[in-house]
Parts: sequence; structure tokens; C-alpha cells
Amino acid sequence: MPENCVETSLLHREYANKDFFGRVKSTVTALHELDISVKYGELFGIIGPNGAGKTTTIKILSTLLLPTSGTARVLGMDVTRDLYRIRKNIGIVFGGERGLYNRVTGFQNLMYFSDLYGVPPSVSRKKVPELIEMVGLTGRENDKVEKYSRGMKQRLHIARALVHDPPLLFLDEPTIGLDPAGSRDIRQIINDLKKAGKSIILTTHYMFEADELCDRIAVISKGRLVALDMPSGLKKQVKDITLAEVHVYGDATPLIESLKSIENVSRVFSDMTGDRTIVRIQTPDGSDVLEQAKSAASRLNLKIIESSVKEPTLEDAYLRMVEE
Ligand SMILES: Nc1ncnc2c1ncn2[C@@H]1O[C@H](COP(=O)(O)OP(=O)(O)O)[C@@H](O)[C@H]1O
Ligand SMILES: [Mg+2]
Repeated sequence: MPENCVETSLLHREYANKDFFGRVKSTVTALHELDISVKYGELFGIIGPNGAGKTTTIKILSTLLLPTSGTARVLGMDVTRDLYRIRKNIGIVFGGERGLYNRVTGFQNLMYFSDLYGVPPSVSRKKVPELIEMVGLTGRENDKVEKYSRGMKQRLHIARALVHDPPLLFLDEPTIGLDPAGSRDIRQIINDLKKAGKSIILTTHYMFEADELCDRIAVISKGRLVALDMPSGLKKQVKDITLAEVHVYGDATPLIESLKSIENVSRVFSDMTGDRTIVRIQTPDGSDVLEQAKSAASRLNLKIIESSVKEPTLEDAYLRMVEE
């Protein structure tokens, strides 16, 4: 078995904008020569702003769209040649409402899709209740889907993508439009699926979600890969905007002056609120600098009321990469 469940090389996709007569007026490059590989068992994130090319990537990898050039192999198969074999071995979940039958029950939906995927009834009769349990719909499986909340529908979508027990799942913004509790349920299910050994490719534009779930993340912007790393690695790229913060009573001017001379401090700024001054120190060495700030304050006879170090978040890293 190859090491990677997904491998792309110079994967490229353009869309043609045609006029009324079908003549190509202009082309949009949705994906520019993407090279990524995803390991078996990995939970791989693709993040990027709207229009970055996330859905285009997922559609190509799941054989719903052909690349303009370049290659992509999914589970060892070519996306331009082995469409049907790939489809039998992957599950796809898109955000949004489409793709379920609202007038019948959740259970009936899953039995129908099992049949569509050629799962023998003897297998699906056992598998479907397990899936219902897994996505937390036990007790509601005999209600019509039209009675389901958005979150329940999305959980049913995930169950639907699993009826044929594929080893690889594509989740394109699976929590979009869900309330916080609904999103949390979906994240929990995604985590469980990873633990069960599924390989998962997830797109999202919620940074905390990518941070919490993903082993590695590809950041794409305007169709181009701008970074690929573990969440911790991406955050390291913005280590310089770590903020050490101290709150002191009274006039902090002498403290601020002495902080500016510490090595590796790039900025010091302050705010007065009530009787306290909040001093923020931007530096890659947050906790070291915080210690130095504390001793400077005690030399200056300033009482520290509170102190903290705020490490940069994935959102900070993302914003910088996407803005550059
Ligand atoms: N069917 C289409 N026809 C023309 N342009 C498209 C089509 N689908 C997507 N695009 C364009 O391709 C780019 C990438 O879109 P998409 O892959 O949907 O991005 P994302 O999912 O990251 O928001 C965008 O500029 C989008 O407008
Ligand atoms: Mg999209």
C-alpha cells in the first residue's frame, strides 16, 4: 500500500467564463499547480479565504471535477481515469442543505444510499443503526428529515457519506451555518472518525476548528499553496507577535522605557484603564521577556497586578499568510 492516500502534482484548474454564444471571454485560475500529499490516517486541513480554491480541490479529488492539467492520485488511483473506483472508496460531505430526502426518515435515507452504493441489505441492516448511533441520531431515526435541525441534517450527511465504509472522507466546510453546539457535535464526530482510522480531508474557514482537529494544514490563497505545516508549525511563523502583558498601578512610563531596551522586544504599547496601566510587549520570547518585565517593575517599585503571555493563534498566522 502506498504511504499516501492523496498525492497531487502541479494540479491545476481553470474555469472559463463564456459569453451568451459560448465563446470563452476570460478564464479564472481556481487552483494553481498544487502539490500536496496526505498520509493514510491523517486528518488534513485545507484553509483559505472564500474563493481560495478549497472546494475546487475537494471536487477534483473526489472526481466531481476534472483538472485542467496536473495529476492527482487518490488511494493510488488517478482522478481522471479511475472515477468510479475512486467514488466507491470515498465519502463526501458538503456543507449546506442539499443531498438528503426530506420527506422520508433518516433511517430510510441511509438505507436508500446504502443500496445506491451496492451495500448488501444484510450488511446495511446492521451498519445503518451503527451509523445512526455514531452520529447521535438514535431515537430520531424514524422522524422525517424535514423535522431535523440543521445540525441533525449535517450529522445525517456524515452518516450518509459512511454507508459504504470508505477509508477516505472529504469534508468541505462541514460546520458552515451551524450553531456552536451543532458545530461542536460535528467536530466530535470528526475526531471519532479519525480515531477509527479514517483518512480525512477537511476544509474550513474557522481557524480554531482547523487548529483543534487537524494534524497538518495546507493554507491556500488565490489558488496557490502558501504554507503547509502542523498547526504548531504555522503558529511558530508568527511567534514574533507573541504578547507579554503586565498590569501595573500608576505611571508606567519608566517601566515602558526600560522594556524598550530589552533584546528581542519589537514593540511596547500601553493603555490606561481606571487606575491601572496595561503594558503590552510584542516579542518572540514571551515568557522570558515577561520575567524581565517583572524584575524591571520590582526595581522601579511598581506593583504588578496581573501578567500573562498571549501566544499567537492560528488565526494570526492565517491572517498574515493570506494578507501577504
Ligand atoms: N463553476 C465555476 N465557474 C467559474 N468560476 C468558478 C466556478 N467555481 C468556482 N469558481 C471560481 O474559482 C475560484 C475558487 O473557488 P472555490 O474552489 O469555490 O473556492 P473556496 O471553496 O475556497 O471558496 C473562485 O475564484 C471562484 O469564483
Ligand atoms: Mg468552498
